Amino acid sequence: MKVESVFVCQECGAQSSKWLGRCPVCGGWNTMVEETRGERVPPAQTGDAAAVSLRDVEMDEDARMASGMSEVDRVLGGGFVAGEVALLGGDPGVGKSTLLLKVSGEIAGSRPVLYASGEESLRQVAARARRLEIDSEKLHLLSETNIEGVIAQAEKLDAGFLVVDSIQSAATAALSSTPGSIAQVRACAAGVSDFAKSTGTPAVLIGHITKGGMIAGPKTLEHMVDAVLYLEGEKYRHLKVLRAQKNRFGATSEMALLEMTQRGLQAVENASAALLADRPENAAGSVIGVAMQGTRPLLFEIQVLTSPSAFGLAKRMSVGVDRNRVQLLSAVLERALHITLGDRDLFVNVVGGVALDEPALDLPLCLAIASSFFNRPLPQEMAAFGEVGLTGEVRAAGRAAERSSEALTLGFTRCVLPSTDFARLKEKAGSVNYTAVSTLEEAGSILFP
Ligand code: TYD
Ligand code: MG
Repeated sequence: MKVESVFVCQECGAQSSKWLGRCPVCGGWNTMVEETRGERVPPAQTGDAAAVSLRDVEMDEDARMASGMSEVDRVLGGGFVAGEVALLGGDPGVGKSTLLLKVSGEIAGSRPVLYASGEESLRQVAARARRLEIDSEKLHLLSETNIEGVIAQAEKLDAGFLVVDSIQSAATAALSSTPGSIAQVRACAAGVSDFAKSTGTPAVLIGHITKGGMIAGPKTLEHMVDAVLYLEGEKYRHLKVLRAQKNRFGATSEMALLEMTQRGLQAVENASAALLADRPENAAGSVIGVAMQGTRPLLFEIQVLTSPSAFGLAKRMSVGVDRNRVQLLSAVLERALHITLGDRDLFVNVVGGVALDEPALDLPLCLAIASSFFNRPLPQEMAAFGEVGLTGEVRAAGRAAERSSEALTLGFTRCVLPSTDFARLKEKAGSVNYTAVSTLEEAGSILFP
């Protein structure tokens, strides 16, 4: 029998009957790899599942398993759900293995845990565990790339938690394609998922990220798991952010702030304070914004530098905020304050390496641009929040009470906020000096008289 082969894009999973240098779907170069058709995960047995009335479905609501790190639980939505499969992605070296080894150590305090590494030797993992001061009898390490072997061990140990580090290094004997190929990654994830669902054991798969920022292999993998978490942060900065991009069992707006220390990743006690450490004094272009990250208000320092541009080509560069947003807001600001930014380069940075997309940071961003443009520092004890519309109106951001009290906790006694938010504030914190504004123009005339 002729073995049919198919070419599969390793980035997006698109298929083609002949080899192509460039994937017609995602446009990736040299991503098509030959796989044998029929190499499929065997379908689950069908025919014996019966439909059940909604009322008869048994639920155990509170069966969440704490990860032992409250910041991680926050992102998961209160801990792992029985049988949950999560995918943890992140750049190499960001701390994925460190984080999950720590979580494994914590969970192993009460139940057997299997940490399977296909990337590192037992010694390497054990050395890291020692460094993290993990010393649990119930934490079992396995250096294995064969996924059937991993699952067999987990079953033998009656593991209550399973980590596969990484899904790209795992392979099933049922397929001939190389580890890391789409077919392998999917088959391995399906194997782990079957194990997790049938035994109720939560499992985490570690995944690498490609140049494009996607979990290597496949978008398709993201559909196979219950939660997709990303650990982000610059390699040489200590602050890391854990976020959920998808979560069947919780909100995706929560984020955890972690810090890489000598003893692994630790929760940051006072997140806002950590983000504001080393803030310059009386510097023009620096403004504190209050953003909501899920249910929690966090303070960020936004820095802007404006300088005359060379050759009449104004640059707009930004780290942490969308560049298009910067472009749009600077146009609005030009009109509202009657200034010209067209011949200036604009550099925007959110200190701490955290990417933000909350509209409430519009106002602090505008104020930072203006402060840098006029070269006039704003009061050191001032924080701001509010969305800015195209006509220069300052719109409500919501949660004003939480935002201003977080600002106050950190010593910011002056709060610039949208008038609508101010009007809705039921309890005005006595010691906060509120400046309510309804347009950018008004904010400009108050702050830059
Ligand atoms: P690692 O977990 O190996 O990253 P990943 O699995 O995402 O590739 O973490 C790698 C970095 O973390 C490495 O550069 C060393 C650093 N690190 C610490 O700073 N402190 C520690 O206690 C540990 C274990 C690692
Ligand atoms: Mg690793």
